[in-house]
Amino acid sequence: MIYLDNSATTVPSEEVLEAFVEANRKYYANPASIHLAGKNADNLLERSRKQILSLLEAPEGEVIFTSGGTEANNLAIIGLAYANRAKGSHIITTRIEHPSVLNAMIYLEQMGFEIDYLTCDKQGLISSLELKEKIRKNTILVSIMHVNNEIGTVQPIAEFAKIIKDNSRAVFHTDAVQSYGRLPISLAGIGPDAITVSAHKINGLKGSGLLALRKGLVIKAVSFGGGQENGHRSGTVSVPNAAVFAKAMRLISLEDKTTSNTHWRNLLIDFMKNFNDVLILAETSGAPHILSIAFNKIKGEIAVNFFQENGVIVSTSSACSSKSGRASHVIEEIDIAERFKQGVIRISFGQNNTEEDIFEFKKVFNKFMKLLGRGKTNDME
Ligand SMILES: Cc1ncc(COP(=O)(O)O)c(C=O)c1O
Repeated sequence: MIYLDNSATTVPSEEVLEAFVEANRKYYANPASIHLAGKNADNLLERSRKQILSLLEAPEGEVIFTSGGTEANNLAIIGLAYANRAKGSHIITTRIEHPSVLNAMIYLEQMGFEIDYLTCDKQGLISSLELKEKIRKNTILVSIMHVNNEIGTVQPIAEFAKIIKDNSRAVFHTDAVQSYGRLPISLAGIGPDAITVSAHKINGLKGSGLLALRKGLVIKAVSFGGGQENGHRSGTVSVPNAAVFAKAMRLISLEDKTTSNTHWRNLLIDFMKNFNDVLILAETSGAPHILSIAFNKIKGEIAVNFFQENGVIVSTSSACSSKSGRASHVIEEIDIAERFKQGVIRISFGQNNTEEDIFEFKKVFNKFMKLLGRGKTNDME
């Protein structure tokens, strides 16, 4: 089976799995306990935190471990909004964020905050001009994702950070769940003040995420209990999870796949251009590891099932929206022709893919198009 659905989740690496079992055997004690076993677990937890901060180029910053990217995004949006409420109540985000950001924004709207949603163009790009225009004196938070999970658009985060810093006192959060380990992103220099990362997108484990904050950033807790994680996220911290999260981040940072992924993406784009009935999404703005396309009047689901029967795993535009049967909010926002909206599939590469997988994908694709009696099928590589 060829797995090309790495934006939904990645296969955990063997090193991560082994380290997880080992850490559970040795460091099962509660890191908040005062006995020696607790202290040893706490030492590993703090070492992991330090490693993560060093990878994010913010040795003096803060890492809050959470149950995943979703919780980290909720904490960022709601926690930063409430922490800054005395300064204002205006927040800026985009229409193409992950539901864990958008639904937190809807909650804040109900709580009296005012949210402005930036639009995007057909490539999925947010305009820096529109961002600048929307910033107000009372803007306290801006949240813009780095790489879109459905179509792969990469936003110019550094440019946005500069605009935000030059024109406001707002905190800038970025959801880097789809970009960490694939594209450079950190808390260094002019950049975001807060970053969300999820372990299962980088060959780590599901149920493990983090919110990293620039030094001195104030945030309010959104869940309550024993006051762990500096009072910002209560609940017994899983030391094994934290340790292998740091490991997954370290491992992915050592292996630069940008060149090979860009090459494969370009191969596939050239190949797709052989077919009249296929629309390439975010062609010029997409991340190297994500390629989304849309079929004319064919449901994405049908394509996904055909590929699966032929040994290749791809997905519809996002795992979250695939079950609802409706075009996702991102596909609606980039405004493609109606006849393509139901036909989106996403191909996403990971650490384990090889060029052979891309050739195999092309073969199955050709077979699919032949079966449908569509387009040219002269490329039978
Ligand atoms: C851009 C983005 N943000 C947040 C999340 C949520 O992360 P998690 O699955 O760890 O809750 C996802 C998951 O697909 C995502 O793609």
